[in-house]
Amino acid sequence: MTDPAKRVLVAGATGYLGKFVVEAFKQRGYWVRALTRDADRLREPGPFTAPAIDEAAVDDVFVGELTDPSTLDGLMEDIDIVFSSIGISRQRDGLTFEQVDYELNRRLIEMAVAADVEQFVYVSMQGAEKPEIAELAITVQHERVVAELEASGLDYRIVRPCGYFSDMGALLTMAKKGRSLLVGDGSNRMSPIHGRDLGHICVDVAEGDDLEVEVGGPEVMTQREAAELAFDVLGKKPKIHVIPLWAAGGLVKGVRLLSNQFGDLAEFIVVAGEIDGVGPPLGTTTLRTYFERLAADDPHA
Ligand SMILES: NC(=O)c1ccc[n+]([C@@H]2O[C@H](COP(=O)([O-])OP(=O)(O)OC[C@H]3O[C@@H](n4cnc5c(N)ncnc54)[C@H](OP(=O)(O)O)[C@@H]3O)[C@@H](O)[C@H]2O)c1
Repeated sequence: MTDPAKRVLVAGATGYLGKFVVEAFKQRGYWVRALTRDADRLREPGPFTAPAIDEAAVDDVFVGELTDPSTLDGLMEDIDIVFSSIGISRQRDGLTFEQVDYELNRRLIEMAVAADVEQFVYVSMQGAEKPEIAELAITVQHERVVAELEASGLDYRIVRPCGYFSDMGALLTMAKKGRSLLVGDGSNRMSPIHGRDLGHICVDVAEGDDLEVEVGGPEVMTQREAAELAFDVLGKKPKIHVIPLWAAGGLVKGVRLLSNQFGDLAEFIVVAGEIDGVGPPLGTTTLRTYFERLAADDPHA
């Protein structure tokens, strides 16, 4: 049940999911503080139709750098709920999953405990227990955060989503250019979800009793079907190329020689192209609707 008096800190507010989460908490009557390291980027729309968070869309903007505790004084002041979707989804800073996904979230948990915050909501990933991905750097660090939360004494919630529509948007971008490239043969099944749907589900999870919630989108499809759908929406004949897993594995080794951080991310992308990622069907926006709106340049797609 919504308590309008509750005050939420959203960490990750400039990210794809974080922008929708700020929007969802505000729409549901909460007071929202957004943590950002770049207020301009918060105010601009994000990639793949993540919303702009302008002055009307948030109650307080806190500019701080989670890697530098001296910039974080007052971050937790009067906060009831901390939400975090801080993590590496695209490599930008040359940092490792341990340095970002684990260390920065651990810092937030410590600060939340010290400030006597009521609840901490963290976004991990669906299927973290699967042997194919359990040992990958991204999974290990997400689950270390989960373990920290379990031991923290905080009332916590873990959201475990499948793939986001932000990743599906790349399929439409490739189809517009005339060719799609898939890792593996494209037969792996997935149930991706729109950030706007997931934002509201994150609020539902915060308000609910379940400590851990897996989340899938409303439809199950193979990676190849999603790629074909992008061509169909554009009225184009599909041209889909695959990078076989053995070749992709070789590429990962090459990337790792150049940069361990990029190697970890590349390894995750390759393995994700191989395994199923299907969660309980939630959300309402279909991938076709999203692609149609993206193709029509609808900024609210
Ligand atoms: N994409 C998927 O399909 C998927 C599926 C399941 C789970 N997840 C998880 O969901 C979470 C959010 O994903 P997303 O797509 O919203 O990611 P995103 O758009 O890349 O956002 C990640 C957030 O983390 C922040 N961040 C990254 N490095 C940082 C650093 N060095 N210092 C401070 N902040 C930093 C980013 O801040 P800046 O904007 O300032 O860089 C951004 O706010 C991630 O943990 C991801 O693993 C993703």
